[in-house]
Amino acid sequence: MAAVGLFCMVSGCHGETQVYREPVEGISEEQSMQTPEPEPTEESGGRGLGKDTHLDSPSGKCYDYYDEVEPTYIDGVLLVNKEFALPKNFGNGEDPVAVQALQELQQGARRAGYSMPLFSGYRSFDEQDKLYRKYAQTDGAQAADTYSAWPGHSEHQTGLAFDVGWVDLQFADTAAGKWLAQYAHEYGFIIRYPKGKESVTGYQYEPWHIRYLGKDLAERVHKSGLCLEEYLERSRSQH
Ligand code: DAL
Ligand code: ZN
Repeated sequence: MAAVGLFCMVSGCHGETQVYREPVEGISEEQSMQTPEPEPTEESGGRGLGKDTHLDSPSGKCYDYYDEVEPTYIDGVLLVNKEFALPKNFGNGEDPVAVQALQELQQGARRAGYSMPLFSGYRSFDEQDKLYRKYAQTDGAQAADTYSAWPGHSEHQTGLAFDVGWVDLQFADTAAGKWLAQYAHEYGFIIRYPKGKESVTGYQYEPWHIRYLGKDLAERVHKSGLCLEEYLERSRSQH
């Protein structure tokens, strides 16, 4: 596959300033959703969102595709985005090394005077499928695509991604959010969907979503000012 253009397929979405409304551990669905969720109907569909939808996934791929798709590693880094998917059976929980790093990050935040609670970690293919469909039912698929991944395309399925702090765009303006943006790399994490990179990542700014890369790589990505797609593309083109 040609290096140039490899990541262009993720550029279809543009960030919106809506509040992200992912249900989170410890917060009831009622608390986390701002508007009542309509009952699913067969007509509410758009890309196969009705009852008889098991033949097509929201991504437009046949569900069988996700039985066999191979994870994509670039320079040893697992890359999951709107282009690169994980198979249904990938993962069974959070990566223990990433969890250890997360705990260290939380301790560091606490020492600095901030609380950095975990709201969402590993999510299975089926969990993501339900979540995405719910958002698409509520907001429409086009809007959902800016803040929720299709099943098989969520970094949460890697076990290396966590939502911490406060799952709201305003988190970026809090002292805790600023601390996370400034120090996450020292614990091995990057802010995976940065502001200004919406057209590359395909997602709105998510100041709460961190991805474990290990300290060396996280520091390099952080200092580069690039998002992960851009960083891996650049390092590949330099080989
Ligand atoms: N909110 C991120 C993009 C996810 O659903 O994985
Ligand atoms: Zn997340």
